[in-house]
Amino acid sequence: MTIVAPSASAVSDWNAGDYQRHAGFVADLGASVFQTLAPCPGERILDLGCGDGVLTARLLEAGAEVVGVDASPAMVEAARARGIDARLLDGQTLDPSLLFTSEDDSRPFDAVFSNAALHWMRRPDAVIAGVAQLLRPGGRFVGEFGAAGNVAQIGQALVAGLDRRGLDGRAAWPWYFPEPDEYRARLIHGGFQDVRLERFERPTPLPTGLAGWLTTFASPFLRYLPVAEHETYLADVADALTPTLQDGDGRWWADYVRLRFAAVKPD
Ligand code: BEZ
Repeated sequence: MTIVAPSASAVSDWNAGDYQRHAGFVADLGASVFQTLAPCPGERILDLGCGDGVLTARLLEAGAEVVGVDASPAMVEAARARGIDARLLDGQTLDPSLLFTSEDDSRPFDAVFSNAALHWMRRPDAVIAGVAQLLRPGGRFVGEFGAAGNVAQIGQALVAGLDRRGLDGRAAWPWYFPEPDEYRARLIHGGFQDVRLERFERPTPLPTGLAGWLTTFASPFLRYLPVAEHETYLADVADALTPTLQDGDGRWWADYVRLRFAAVKPD
């Protein structure tokens, strides 16, 4: 079989409607990291990987002045439709000259916030350096994303399904899921202090089942296969996961493990 190298980035071809339908719970689960951020009225906050802007809108409701960035044109469009100042930018190239035009308010941010986005950015040091550049001294970087072990079973089934078709499934792996100590070291190396991290398991019910989750997030793996093979591949993945991720009532669960962190840029 010919291996077709995927051309699009992991997030550039997302569909905002699918995301809202199958992954609307992501913003709800972000409520607790929102508390860690504790946004104050008047604060200037960057939402890194703002997605469709549901959680970003809550920052606005809290009285913050907010800019969102996302690498997906569809997500930026969806966030703008909610009235958010959303910009198309890869979080791994967070340069002020790319984020701001000469007409923009280019003051540094009081906080950079990120929910369920950093695991799509596989150059964490570039992200951290960009965040540090955009924050004011004393500003905070607060977020939550997948930790080591996140979606281990789903990922393994996706990889194994490609391996069985003669492909290198691991090469399709699109995510960065670090151990807490690794991420702590990166934050400190990037100049942050007062670093707090917590890793915890969060088995998460999937409102539209595994099929909905795969529709939204499995495209980095599907890209390696001809379209005619997608259905049987996804059916194989679901079969492999039924014994462990589907409960007796037929409900599907994602094996989420989160890393929540907060860090401060020194004065
Ligand atoms: C997550 O939120 O942990 C996640 C979402 C999609 C793919 C992988 C991980």
